Amino acid sequence: MKRMINIALLSVSVLLFTACFQTTPGSKKPDDPNLVRAGEQLNLLIQSIDNKLNTEDEPEKGGDLSMFPRSLNMGGQLKLVPSKDWCSGFFAGCLWEMYGSTGDKHWRESAIRFTEPLEDQKLNGKTHDMGFKMMNTFGKGYELTGDKNYRDILVQSAKTLITRYNEKIGCIRSWDHNQDKWQFPVIIDNMMNLELLFWASKETGDSVYYNIAVTHALTTMKNHFRSDNSCYHVVDYDAATGAVVKKNTHQGFSDESAWSRGQAWALYGYTMVYRETKNPVFLTQAEKVAQYILAQPNMPVDLVPYWDFDAPEIPNEPRDVSAAAIATSALYELSLFVSDSLRTGYLKAADQMFKNLSTSYLSAPGANNGFILGHSTGSKPHNSEIDVPIIYADYYYLEALLRKMKSDRM
Ligand code: GLY
Repeated sequence: MKRMINIALLSVSVLLFTACFQTTPGSKKPDDPNLVRAGEQLNLLIQSIDNKLNTEDEPEKGGDLSMFPRSLNMGGQLKLVPSKDWCSGFFAGCLWEMYGSTGDKHWRESAIRFTEPLEDQKLNGKTHDMGFKMMNTFGKGYELTGDKNYRDILVQSAKTLITRYNEKIGCIRSWDHNQDKWQFPVIIDNMMNLELLFWASKETGDSVYYNIAVTHALTTMKNHFRSDNSCYHVVDYDAATGAVVKKNTHQGFSDESAWSRGQAWALYGYTMVYRETKNPVFLTQAEKVAQYILAQPNMPVDLVPYWDFDAPEIPNEPRDVSAAAIATSALYELSLFVSDSLRTGYLKAADQMFKNLSTSYLSAPGANNGFILGHSTGSKPHNSEIDVPIIYADYYYLEALLRKMKSDRM
């Protein structure tokens, strides 16, 4: 029986695969070869998900279906995660990006399919990753479709996120795990989730979200950065007094090292906070981070960083393509806000990074179960996701591509 279902599903997938290259009326056929290639891979990823969901007996655990692609495991098999995973929204984000750039309803329907099952997260007060999950999905969907239900889900998500804010510290709490080690950990990655709060303030007119986002960004600027403008991964605070207790890493090489993806989150995060506030202190911070990354002596010539700028065995260390993709997208945005001389440098670096990602780090057509890029590193110290495709690299690569296309037209 299962075999018959599989054959039927395979036929449906093949039909869909074929259908999506016939453009929907009103849609435009992508002419950028990188966008075409990304679309082909994403369709393959949809097929790979369907194959896995229909061949595994128990994909569902505790009522939360593992249906969102995150990475490949050591054996090259697709790793699907449930909605509560911090990576659950990136795939739908890629699909919305495809819809936004082509207008093809195939992408819209696929994006909806991987967006709506995330609704339960709007009440998940145990995560700071609300922005990653909800902005890339309901946020992009609302922007492109105007669906009011998506708006309400986003507002509720922002309400839930600010329950993690501590006024004494001036930050949103990141993790609840490792409570024996950290009292109130705040990680640099958390800058990314502030975008949801800026959105909520604009949408509702309630400044509470804006004020929390700005205070979080200022506190992080004060405590996360070193004198060379690199940043710590984790800063732990005393929840009662607001004092800094310690500065650590979790996914980097050492407490004092510069974990590459953390630097990329900082670059992207402060650029976005400047976009939303127009406060020049945030632009200066973003420029300092950009300068740190681009002048890094351990940056390889192709500008795709090793997983940590201070990893001990450089050049024999895995790269982190996700850090490069995040930084590329951030540099395209940052170039919009700076002086002509800085703009030229940022665009040159971003174009070079993008070109190298698109030549040396792309999956071969039809490979990697449909992920667009290979060679990311999730967490080397935990021996987890090393030198593999990871969905957030694909998401920021696609975003970088769309930003590049816009900047090329200017
Ligand atoms: N936000 C988690 C990570 O970058 O791995």
